[in-house]
Amino acid sequence: MTPASPRPHRRGEAGFSMKTLIAYYSYDGNAALAADVIKQKLCASSNAQKPEETDVFRIEVEHERRFKGFFKYLWGVKQIFSKKTPALKPYAIDFDRYDLLIFGSPVWASSPAPAITAFLKRLPVAGKKTAIFCCCAGNKGQSLDTMKSCLSKNTVAGEIAFINPLRQDKKEFADAVGAWVEQLAGAVRR
Ligand SMILES: Cc1cc2nc3c(=O)[nH]c(=O)nc-3n(C[C@H](O)[C@H](O)[C@H](O)COP(=O)(O)O)c2cc1C
Repeated sequence: MTPASPRPHRRGEAGFSMKTLIAYYSYDGNAALAADVIKQKLCASSNAQKPEETDVFRIEVEHERRFKGFFKYLWGVKQIFSKKTPALKPYAIDFDRYDLLIFGSPVWASSPAPAITAFLKRLPVAGKKTAIFCCCAGNKGQSLDTMKSCLSKNTVAGEIAFINPLRQDKKEFADAVGAWVEQLAGAVRR
């Protein structure tokens, strides 16, 4: 099987002036939506100096099981407490070509989902500018701190917790993401 690669940026969009990768895991689509809106806002950032690349990569687990309702929580929480590291679908990412790496995850039992922890633990870079986001139902717990500890060799320039983006008013969510991206753009330039 060919290893997955980030979805390429469409040239011609107004852009953020740093090559950016947004890598995220999502079980139910909230973090996926957040990643897409972050990309849109990066490309429209008022800090943008020139068109740039922003790639989006969805981290996927091998043979992931799909549950709904109570069984989904039971299964997910069990993974957190058993500290299981899931096998990820193969990917081929040249992290060195990016100036900014943004990582996103849902919150499971106050922690990042195991897939993102597995991904961050094998991140082959140091000294990079990064930013992190999580999606939760209202209690982010230690999820962002745990992601940060996996990125200790890098600089975390921004972080944010979103509350179930799929349930939010589209415009309000896009505005909140836009404000964060503006802040982030300023922080990474410093
Ligand atoms: C197993 C499991 C555990 C969860 N634990 C929490 C939690 O501790 N705090 C919280 O606010 N939301 C929790 N949630 C809700 C999700 O974090 C939230 O719905 C998130 O937006 C889902 O992201 P996704 O759609 O990208 O998977 C949990 C969801 C699941 C499936």
